[in-house]
Amino acid sequence: MPASPIRKLVPFSDAAKKRGVKVYHLNIGQPDLETPEPFWQALQALNLKTLEYCPSNGLEVYREAFARYYERLGIRLSASNFMITEGASEALAFAMLSCMDEGDEVIIPEPMYANYIGFANVGKIVVKPISTAIDTGFALPSMEEFERAISPRTKAILVCNPNNPTGYLYSQRELETLRDICLRHDLFLFADEVYREFVYDGKKHTSALQLNGMEKHVVVFDSISKRFSACGARIGALVTRNEEVLAAALKFGQARLSPNTLGQLAGLPLFALGSEYYERVVKEYQRRRDLIIEELNKIPGVVCPTPGGAFYAVAQLPVDDADAFCQWMLEKFTHEGATVMMAPASGFYASAGKGAREVRLAYVLREDDLMAAMRCLQQGLREYNRSESSGSQKNV
Ligand SMILES: Cc1ncc(COP(=O)(O)O)c(C=O)c1O
Repeated sequence: MPASPIRKLVPFSDAAKKRGVKVYHLNIGQPDLETPEPFWQALQALNLKTLEYCPSNGLEVYREAFARYYERLGIRLSASNFMITEGASEALAFAMLSCMDEGDEVIIPEPMYANYIGFANVGKIVVKPISTAIDTGFALPSMEEFERAISPRTKAILVCNPNNPTGYLYSQRELETLRDICLRHDLFLFADEVYREFVYDGKKHTSALQLNGMEKHVVVFDSISKRFSACGARIGALVTRNEEVLAAALKFGQARLSPNTLGQLAGLPLFALGSEYYERVVKEYQRRRDLIIEELNKIPGVVCPTPGGAFYAVAQLPVDDADAFCQWMLEKFTHEGATVMMAPASGFYASAGKGAREVRLAYVLREDDLMAAMRCLQQGLREYNRSESSGSQKNV
C-alpha cells in the first residue's frame, strides 16, 4: 500500500506548527469555503432518538434527491441507479472490486489521483498508466496509445474529469474517443466526476453518463465532499445504469452494513441549491486559479499550465527532487513566520521516476493567503537552490 503523497508529509507540518510556524496547506483538497447553511439547518432540525444504520445502498429519499439533481444536469436516472457510499472513495473501491478480478488491468492516464493506485492494490488489480505531459497541458494521449496499452486482462479505463491532480478538463470529443475504445474492446469506463461543477472560462463539462450506447459500460463516482464543501459528511455515490455492477457493489455494501446516515439526512437539502450557489463557488475558484497560475509562472524556473477545472494545478519546479524540497520547506524553511505545504507529484504517477520535479497545489485558500503562499514558495525556491549549490541541505 503506497503512502498518500497528499498526507505523507503531515508529521513534518505538525512539527512545524508546534514550532509556531504558519503552514499554508496547498497539499490537500480541503476547501475552506463554508458548507452551505441548509446542511447545518437540517442537522439542527433532526429530532432523532436513535442514530440507526440505513439501507446498505443508502436512504431512498436521498437517492431520489440525487437523481433529481442529475435530472437538472439533463441526465435521466432513477434512485435505483445509485448506491450511496462513504465518499467517492468507497465508490471507487467498490467499483474496482466489483468489476475486476485479481490480475485484471485498469488503464489510467497519469499523473492520476494517487488513491486509485492504493485502491487497485487492495484488489491486486494492475494499474496500467498512460502518460500525459506538462508541456501539452496534460492533454489526453492519442487513441493509439490506449489501444497499445489494452491487453486481454484489461477491464476498464478510468478517467477523472475534471482532473485531479492536473485540472485538465476532457472535451466531449475526447470522451467520445474513449467511448469508441471502450465499446470496441468491451471495457468499463470509470469516470470520477467529483469536481463536475468546477469548470472555468465558460467551458462545459460532459459527463460519461451522457455518452450514448454506454449504459452497461459507464460507472461514475460522485461525492458531496467538494461540490458542497462537505468533506467530513463522508457521502458519495456509485452511479451506473448497469444493474449487475450495482448488485455486485451492494454485496460489498452489505458487508460494511451502511453508509453514514447522518451525512445523508443533513446533506439532503444541498441538492436543492440553485445555480446562484454554483456560480458563486465557481467564480471564487476561478479567481483563485487565475491568481495562483499567474504567480507560479512568474517564479523563475517554474512551469504551470492553466487548469480548465477542479481546484488543483501541477507545477514543475526548478529542483531535482520535489519530494526532498517539499520536506525541506516544512523542516527547514520559513518566510515571515510561514511556510507552504505541497504534495510531491511523484506519488501521482504509477510509473517509477516520473514527476520527480513536479508538485501538486490545491488552490483551496483565500486569495490573500494564496498570495502569501506564493511569495513564500518563491523565497523558498531561491533559498533552497542557494543552499543546494553550497551543499548545505544534504541532510534533508
Ligand atoms: C478525484 C477524487 N476522487 C475521489 C475523491 C474522494 O472524495 P470523497 O471520498 O471525499 O468523496 C477525491 C478527494 O480528494 C478526489 O480528488
